[in-house]
Amino acid sequence: MSDSPLLEIRDLWVTYWQRSGLTLRRRPFHAVKGATLSIAPGETLGLVGESGSGKSSIANAVLGLVPAASGSIRFGDAELSAMKTRYPAAARRQIQAVFQDPFSSLNPSMTVGDIVAEPLRVHTGMSREERRARAAELLKLVSLSEEHLGRHPHQFSGGQRQRVAIAAALALQPRLIVLDEPASALDVSTQNQIINLLYERRDALGIAYLLIAHDLALVHHISDRIAVMYLGHIVEQGPAGRVYSAPAHPYTRALLEAVPLLDPARQRARRAARKAAPAVEAPRDAVSGCPYSNRCPSVMARCRSAMPAAFPVEGGGTASCFLAEDRGRARPAGEPASLAS
Ligand SMILES: Nc1ncnc2c1ncn2[C@@H]1O[C@H](COP(=O)(O)OP(=O)(O)O)[C@@H](O)[C@H]1O
Ligand SMILES: [Mg+2]
Repeated sequence: MSDSPLLEIRDLWVTYWQRSGLTLRRRPFHAVKGATLSIAPGETLGLVGESGSGKSSIANAVLGLVPAASGSIRFGDAELSAMKTRYPAAARRQIQAVFQDPFSSLNPSMTVGDIVAEPLRVHTGMSREERRARAAELLKLVSLSEEHLGRHPHQFSGGQRQRVAIAAALALQPRLIVLDEPASALDVSTQNQIINLLYERRDALGIAYLLIAHDLALVHHISDRIAVMYLGHIVEQGPAGRVYSAPAHPYTRALLEAVPLLDPARQRARRAARKAAPAVEAPRDAVSGCPYSNRCPSVMARCRSAMPAAFPVEGGGTASCFLAEDRGRARPAGEPASLAS
């Protein structure tokens, strides 16, 4: 793995101009507020957070589907955020995407063979026969077979359609695939199959992934690092194992607790605790200070007025939370940090 990142996002803002009420005036809504992320060649970054937190806005900015209001998106040597028109062909080939909904993302009038071969038609000089042969190979890579080449998407299940979408994304041997909730529309066992397939292909082909999910538990095995988003902010990031086993931000802990528990006694205890806690609606732009302060069980007075910086966390990464700052301070200088604290 080389030292220089493949994708480097710095202080990215994504802004939509929304019409408010009946007036014609549009007001800005900041869906991404200063996100900084990087992905090394061959690395998988899991980007997690609840619906509406801004994950797809980051994905779409990387893909050039929405403009960056400010900040920088570098891919290799190219500054993508500066490009007002389409990306250069090299970047378009090297960054591919798989979206959430396998029912709307595949053209229903095309055969699966043509869908998988389409990127080859657009970007390479391959003949029809060469493309067909390559499409058959690609289908095998996603555990489908040559027999499927002539079929249409409606003849496939959701999981099979996602396999087709993944095969098409692999066609040009990209360096990065942006996967925006590739398993969210599927049932649980199919979700795991798709994640496992991605895992195998990544290791065999050395591709980097920006893997978006709302379920941290689903993607932590496959991710090298995890970034957690809440209302447009990256509130925590770090090595996947550390973020999953020792989350430092209260929001990351809440996300992990939202995962169903298999043990009925723990499930009951959690339900009781939830009932006791007042339900709070996620505000959009209203809070000053920490964006999570309205919902945070550990909120302190200063959280409501000041925005916490990204403090380093023991075990790697950062958390934008004053509790992480306090933990860092509580350690006498020079003394090694203990994982138990
Ligand atoms: N095209 C758009 N116009 C206006 N608002 C948008 C648009 N796309 C997304 N948003 C808003 O931006 C916020 C973040 O959306 P999104 O990036 O899709 O989040 P996520 O993928 O995490 O669910 C949401 O509040 C959403 O309503
Ligand atoms: Mg989304």
